[in-house]
Amino acid sequence: MNQPLRVAIAGLGGFAHTHHEALRALEATGVARLVATCDPTLTTLPHTIEEELIAREARFFPTLEELLSRTPDLDWVCLPTPIPFHADQHRQVVETGAACYLEKPPTLWLPELHQMLEVEKQASKATNVGFNFVGDPFRREFKQRVINGEFGPLKSVRLFAHWPRTPAYYLRNNWAGKRFLDGKPVMDSPIGNACAHFVQNLLWMAGQDCIDHVANIVDCEAETFRAYEIESYDTVFLKATLQDQIQLKLAVSHTLREDSAGEAQSDLELYEFERATIEFPTWRSAKIVWKDGSKSEELVESGWRDYRDVVRENFLSYARYLRGETERPITTLQDSEPFVKLCHDSQHSPKGIQDFSFERVKTGASGGRSVLGLESQMRNFCL
Ligand SMILES: NC(=O)c1ccc[n+]([C@@H]2O[C@H](COP(=O)([O-])OP(=O)(O)OC[C@H]3O[C@@H](n4cnc5c(N)ncnc54)[C@H](O)[C@@H]3O)[C@@H](O)[C@H]2O)c1
Repeated sequence: MNQPLRVAIAGLGGFAHTHHEALRALEATGVARLVATCDPTLTTLPHTIEEELIAREARFFPTLEELLSRTPDLDWVCLPTPIPFHADQHRQVVETGAACYLEKPPTLWLPELHQMLEVEKQASKATNVGFNFVGDPFRREFKQRVINGEFGPLKSVRLFAHWPRTPAYYLRNNWAGKRFLDGKPVMDSPIGNACAHFVQNLLWMAGQDCIDHVANIVDCEAETFRAYEIESYDTVFLKATLQDQIQLKLAVSHTLREDSAGEAQSDLELYEFERATIEFPTWRSAKIVWKDGSKSEELVESGWRDYRDVVRENFLSYARYLRGETERPITTLQDSEPFVKLCHDSQHSPKGIQDFSFERVKTGASGGRSVLGLESQMRNFCL
């Protein structure tokens, strides 16, 4: 029987907490085990975490550097850490010879991705970038049907995502909403971070050559706005031409929704084919509507129920790759290049980031801001 893979996770809080939870599920079935973790923001560990790590025979270090230098024979290191650290931490992991599971986005700065791709050439195993949904068997079945030509040629891919965030979101760390941190590009944005999965879904579904292919960007035009007092934008309208002349349109905002909708998230992924339209009203459900009415609507649901399933299944898939049972991880660094290019281009819109006009912006009790008429403008733009 295989020995459990020896895993380290950088970070304990934020999304790192979900990585720890997913790894516990893999430990329970003997697939992997946590041998070390680190978090430079903690000088002492909360008692409960310390006890748990001792019980699991896992060690705690203040920094990733110490963790890597004092933990030999790691098979796999997870980096669910702040985006500005990804490139340097990825390099450190690759240099130890361990495999790397890097949270999305790898970076939001295209030249940095190119440096990371150079580093990746030395990697013992390909890095997986943690885009959540590309590996969902239910989406992969759809993509196979697309490649088989069942729905006819793909014409356009579209995303509407109104995912409200209050000022607390931008205050939760020192990089949220920033374009630069200590002079280094960060380029945080709604499409680069919170709604990144949707964007990768569109680009991946538009890649027509094979199941893993992600479509390249031919050209891209964006208008960006902000209602919050941040460096980056909180709202974007973007059009792009992808390879094979597939059109991409998206409208994404972190402003509050108007009136009673407030902080409720609303999103829709839409794929327009010659013979059918496929809508994903949630990340785990899809509806196929045939344009000529020849077949009745088809509703399909993912077998994954919630975020715990999502990260656990992505981890299992990476474990299978590391054991040689599959040829490649679900999303490689190279597969992320169109995504990073799109995010990068969105930061260079000709008009720069525009402030919404004062008369349209309303501030709610939470400090969250809504913009008059924005949601219908977003829907009209992309749906
Ligand atoms: N897949 C998803 O659904 C999903 C959801 C949320 C966030 N994310 C991604 O996870 C990553 C982290 O985001 P977050 O909002 O949790 O960030 P965060 O700022 O909350 O940091 C996460 C953890 O990393 C620790 N940390 C900070 N600096 C570190 C360092 N130098 N070395 C090791 N640990 C360090 C923090 O203390 C914290 O425990 C980002 O790439 C983000 O886009 C993914």
